[in-house]
Amino acid sequence: MVNYEVTVYTTNCTFAATFNNVNIKLVGTEGKSNRSWLFSIIGSLALFKGDVAHFTVSCPKSLGTLFLIELDKQDFLLFQDSWYPSKVEVRSPEGDTYCFPVHRWITDREVHRFREGKAVKAFEETNTLATYAREQELIGRKKDYCWDESKKGLPHCIKGEIPLSLPPEVTFSYTKHTEFFWTAAIGQAEQHLKGLEKRNESWTDIDALDRVFTYRTTDMSEYVQELWQEDEFFAYQYLNGVNPIMIRCCKVLPKNFPVTNDMVFLHGHGSLTKEIERGNIFLCDYKRLDGVTPNTINGKKQYLMAPLVLFHKRQGKLMPIAIQLKQTPADDNPIFLPTDSAYDWMMAKIFVRSADFQEHQLNVHLLRTHLLAEVFAVSLLRNVPMVHPLYKLLVPHTRYTLQINIMARLALISEKGVFTEFAASGGEAMITIMERSLSSMTYKSLCIPDDVDERGVRDIPNYYYKDDGLKLWDIIFKFVEGVLSYYYKTDDVVVKDSELQDWIQDIFEHGFLSQEQTGIPQKLSTVDELIKFVTMVIFTCSCQHSAVNSGQYDYGAWMPNTPISLQRPPPTTKGPKENIMMQTLPDISTTVKGMSTMWLLSKESSDFVPLGQYPEQYFTEGFPRKQIKRFQRKLHQLSVDIKIRNEPLNLPYTYLDPASFENSVAI
Ligand code: FE2
Repeated sequence: MVNYEVTVYTTNCTFAATFNNVNIKLVGTEGKSNRSWLFSIIGSLALFKGDVAHFTVSCPKSLGTLFLIELDKQDFLLFQDSWYPSKVEVRSPEGDTYCFPVHRWITDREVHRFREGKAVKAFEETNTLATYAREQELIGRKKDYCWDESKKGLPHCIKGEIPLSLPPEVTFSYTKHTEFFWTAAIGQAEQHLKGLEKRNESWTDIDALDRVFTYRTTDMSEYVQELWQEDEFFAYQYLNGVNPIMIRCCKVLPKNFPVTNDMVFLHGHGSLTKEIERGNIFLCDYKRLDGVTPNTINGKKQYLMAPLVLFHKRQGKLMPIAIQLKQTPADDNPIFLPTDSAYDWMMAKIFVRSADFQEHQLNVHLLRTHLLAEVFAVSLLRNVPMVHPLYKLLVPHTRYTLQINIMARLALISEKGVFTEFAASGGEAMITIMERSLSSMTYKSLCIPDDVDERGVRDIPNYYYKDDGLKLWDIIFKFVEGVLSYYYKTDDVVVKDSELQDWIQDIFEHGFLSQEQTGIPQKLSTVDELIKFVTMVIFTCSCQHSAVNSGQYDYGAWMPNTPISLQRPPPTTKGPKENIMMQTLPDISTTVKGMSTMWLLSKESSDFVPLGQYPEQYFTEGFPRKQIKRFQRKLHQLSVDIKIRNEPLNLPYTYLDPASFENSVAI
């Protein structure tokens, strides 16, 4: 007889323990053990949450190299519970240690197979049982994770009406769940107590806005309240605010934006034409919002513009120099200038900020991070088994994404969702804007080095999103390159990896609706292509989401800076007129609904996992684990550098400090 020492790790989270009877079978190249009951002298308490339990499995002879275990859990006195093991380690009589990552809830009485931690691609399998286990795993996953079409023209999503329709390993932890709903409830209760949530009238006093969320200011939201009318701050938000990907170098003035040399005063920097030639003029064009039908809120028709905004870069700063609120030039669509009356110029900027809220939430935040991250996740879960290196690399970057998106579909963009009811672009407009956004979601625009070049913004100073984002891209790229070059030594390996090809094909089909003009690859032919694509996936799920998500409350807490809707039409002439700013801004209930939602969506949970931390240890081999350590060191150094850079700044840019954001789209 020979003995195998089996160590079972139960995850340290609420309800992870089991009091049921657990059985194990060890499978090696030379044979299998009997199905053995993991019996301990302390009985079922051996598999308590966070505990490590030791057992012995005896076999008549050595099983050779172990590559798989089978686990099953049977009722104890007719009582069945759920168990969440993290891993199983087995020490063989030859003295080798094998590690089997699990990280799955076992809720039934079925046999579940888990592979040894060494990453294996499908064509490298040499054992029929291993191949069988691999196929069965994907058959099961394709049943658990089905594609669905929530709205025609949008990326496909996970089939599931409520979070409970998801397998338990991809849902919120108990901690995350409790904190999320507690934050939501507190926000609502506060508004309810103040009696604000049902008041449909306009604000009469701008100072009253200060008292909406008395205790919920952030340093940044206080700055915003102070600076929101400043031109320099208005421009700053296009670099380091929540929508830092809209601004681009203006090489030719759009025909529908007839700004002339005489109109703009460039403070002694020459003519507009010359400054365009020198690359100092920048443009934001909200054409995707043109012609959509704005929402009706609390029975009142709302207004949504599709502005064009021109900026001038001078003395290391970006300044707005012209705004046209509608796309078609006309007498009732004047080009507003900083030299106009303070009221006209301020109202023009308010309409731009409101348009930016719609563009940011629907395109930049929802589509380009949340929905895309969901596509990456569903495709991975359906096509790639746990033993595959890509699964090990990417699964931590899918944490909580499916649940947060189901919740967004339920609470934000459903028929009665907050966005549908209270945003200018809620309802019918939303789908049109998102469909238009999808066709602009090119592969280049998702890869920050290409995007920065394509937008011609590499030389803008104090553009911290760009500076930190490029450094993060580089760090992630080197990490991905380090790991994947180990598993893909030649391009041929990439080509013949059928699971990898299925993964990318599904992303093209379900995420980009097979639109070839997006430039998203339909197949991967080289190691370089693979590394770049996987870098983009990790960057999008972690860095890009943080850049467009974390500042929502900072920039939105002072409502006039980010009006989620506007109740009156924009000015159609310049010159003296009645001041209707307060009647134009959102009414009281719309304001507080928007603010409490932004508060909720900017709040981190205490079980947050920062970029580059992999507590679940899917990789067990030395080489990738070394790459992870290197990755973590580089991220730590960047975090230190960003903190030093931020110290003297009045407006520190923290959204891309890797210590402060998650691996995945989780909020
Ligand atoms: Fe988000």
